[in-house]
Amino acid sequence: MTAASSMLSLHHVTRRFGGLVAVNDLSMHVQANAIHGLIGPNGAGKSTAFDLISGLTPLSGGSIQFDGADLTRASVEQRVRAGICRTFQTPRLFEKMTALDVVMCGRHLHGRTGILGSMFSVMSKHRDEVNIRRAAIELLDFVGLSDEKDDVVANMPYGKRRLVEIARALATGPKMLLLDEVASGLNPVETAAVSSLIRRLQEQGMTIVLVEHDMRFVMDLCGQITVLNFGTKIASGTPAEVSSNQHVIEAYLGHPRPVGRSRRDQRRAILAPGTDSTDQMEHEQ
Ligand SMILES: Nc1ncnc2c1ncn2[C@@H]1O[C@H](COP(=O)(O)OP(=O)(O)OP(=O)(O)O)[C@@H](O)[C@H]1O
Ligand SMILES: [Mg+2]
Repeated sequence: MTAASSMLSLHHVTRRFGGLVAVNDLSMHVQANAIHGLIGPNGAGKSTAFDLISGLTPLSGGSIQFDGADLTRASVEQRVRAGICRTFQTPRLFEKMTALDVVMCGRHLHGRTGILGSMFSVMSKHRDEVNIRRAAIELLDFVGLSDEKDDVVANMPYGKRRLVEIARALATGPKMLLLDEVASGLNPVETAAVSSLIRRLQEQGMTIVLVEHDMRFVMDLCGQITVLNFGTKIASGTPAEVSSNQHVIEAYLGHPRPVGRSRRDQRRAILAPGTDSTDQMEHEQ
């Protein structure tokens, strides 16, 4: 894939924290309308890469282009307006608010151009509360929370809070969503719901980059995958290409295993995702 055909391009991006290089000379290209995976063992630099793309932390070196514009030095707000929005590894929500209020808040960061046409055109053309509310209700419906819109976030199960976070991100009208461990902590039913939601977003034209330790989830959804280890890209390609890449296998095998998982199970999870029920690689919040 070339930089020219990409929605998002990172060129030699580096982030240092004192002596630690969290992201080291990372170049990657995400095609428009792709579902692109960013994987790697704990501490590989995945969330830091998201922080750099979304503007939460400054680059130590390199550059970032998005949708034809150079965003290397843009603020978080400028990136949201350009069409980048993210969710966090641990959902960051105002827990005392209702799901509807949370999503309506997302509207205040609404970018100039949205992907989910009808919903967001309503949001951008009409500034009044009634229409914002109506659009937020449509978004909650879209993510499968039409019955929970008036529920207080703190009282919602974890999987539903994840969906609220996605709906809030969608309310900003993004062209690209960055999803950090969106399936972490979810049961199989909730994971399937999130997976189906991501596919529906892609059908509507969204570009998605996802970080996830659940290999079945990643391999099933993603067309292209970039693999980080200790901040450095060690592989990129299709799920089949990266799962048979020797550097990737060694990176995962060299990593501490989750309790109860044999070395053979861990290798099988990378090589043949979806063939066993222990595909969830070790991760910590
Ligand atoms: N603000 C910070 N200050 C200092 N070091 C940091 C900071 N943020 C991240 N790091 C370090 O950078 C490295 C990469 O961290 P990061 O959170 O990006 O990894 P990750 O791939 O998301 O890991 P995980 O899968 O566990 O979420 C780690 O060694 C981490 O301790
Ligand atoms: Mg992380």
